[in-house]
Amino acid sequence: MRTLIRGGTVVTATETSKADVVIQDERVAAIGVDMSVEADRVIDASDRYVMPGGVDVHTHMELPFGGSFCSDDFETGTRAAAFGGTTTIVDFAVQDYGEGLRQGLDRWFEKAQNACTDYGFHVIVREVNDQVLKEMDELVGEGVTSFKLFMAYPGVFMLDDASIFRAMRQAGGSGALIMMHAENGGPIDVLVRQFLEEGKTEPVNHGLTRPSVMEGEAVHRVFKLAELADTPAYIVHLSSRDALNALREARDRGMPAFAETCPQYLYLSQDDMARPGFEGAKFVCSPPLRTPDHQEELWSGLRGGDLQVVSTDHAPFNYEGQKDLGRGDFSKIPNGLPSVEDRFTLLYGGVEKGQIGLNRFVELVATAPAKMFGLYPRKGTIAPGSDADVVVFDPKKERVLSAATHHMRVDYSCYEGRTVRGLPELVMQRGRVLVENGEFHGKPGQGRFLPRSRIPA
Ligand code: URP
Ligand code: ZN
Ligand code: ZN
Repeated sequence: MRTLIRGGTVVTATETSKADVVIQDERVAAIGVDMSVEADRVIDASDRYVMPGGVDVHTHMELPFGGSFCSDDFETGTRAAAFGGTTTIVDFAVQDYGEGLRQGLDRWFEKAQNACTDYGFHVIVREVNDQVLKEMDELVGEGVTSFKLFMAYPGVFMLDDASIFRAMRQAGGSGALIMMHAENGGPIDVLVRQFLEEGKTEPVNHGLTRPSVMEGEAVHRVFKLAELADTPAYIVHLSSRDALNALREARDRGMPAFAETCPQYLYLSQDDMARPGFEGAKFVCSPPLRTPDHQEELWSGLRGGDLQVVSTDHAPFNYEGQKDLGRGDFSKIPNGLPSVEDRFTLLYGGVEKGQIGLNRFVELVATAPAKMFGLYPRKGTIAPGSDADVVVFDPKKERVLSAATHHMRVDYSCYEGRTVRGLPELVMQRGRVLVENGEFHGKPGQGRFLPRSRIPA
């Protein structure tokens, strides 16, 4: 099957040019000007951008958390991702207490059977011991090349510094990347108990008990431990100026220090958590949303290169029946927000506003995450030989984000009523149309597991 995408503006992380794209079966075959080739299908991309499919390296499909499960499974979550221009996700398999990493990973392979887009896995390590360290090396050999560790949630996910250090050393030796949830969980828990005792139970207190200074401290500690272990480290869901400054300090002294931020930290704030009644629960995630003055600092981190990736941390919980587990006690609100469908267009808002350039947009949303997590050049770019994961993007189309029209299986949108510009009009995975003009053409189960390369030194 040969497809010709004609007359569009092809945008990669480094170039913007009027060109045609020829797709042969699953791969990009050629890019050129006024290509005259026979094709089974010709797609007119005039006045459209032709961009690589988005790569979202931080999702949680069906994650068990806070007595509930994330409401999207791999089928509904990847379908929604495709509507939003994302054709690859990397999700987090979870090790349960008392088991090895392999069992956690096997559960996630089972969950992912119905994925509509391609996918890879990181593994969340909850217990570090000799057997687990050995398994880390084995999994790296099988294409699971990154591991997430937590400095927060005592008794649930949190590891002590010695365990983190051991895991870092192991990862450094095998070419794996350590991803850190950087918030200092001990003092945070003290504040949570104090606030509840004082009768401060509303959702906004979730944010007030997790101050940014405790994120900054944890990021600083991550890179000191990584320095001792002689290994790179990557901060997930970086949310604040304090954390960004600690990251910058590590980079300035030459550390291989990396981080992602997420759309919620660029567009939402503590004011949303303080909405009247219980509505703030819709915005409860960790690290929490910060005061609005942190946002411009994060945009500057994206522009300047200190932040390398924008991912979603997609962790949807319904307002009715899940978030409301925390009525009367903010600490029982399941943590996480839905956004796998909105990332591409929300970040494009930064191009519209002049906060980032068009090529930087593609880099943040597709190329850099693919490179950072061992998927490049198969994913994350449009180049001969790459998988034909392509978004034909209409930059002029205006629309209003809403739970009534989104495809995520969750009963609210954090961006309800917000007008955005830009629509992934046609989305392709490996040369097959997944989404066209608002219709889904994919099938559950057609997504493929992506073994990933070791992280480049
Ligand atoms: O609130 C969040 N971020 N929920 C998902 C779990 C995590 O820490 O990434
Ligand atoms: Zn986390
Ligand atoms: Zn997460």
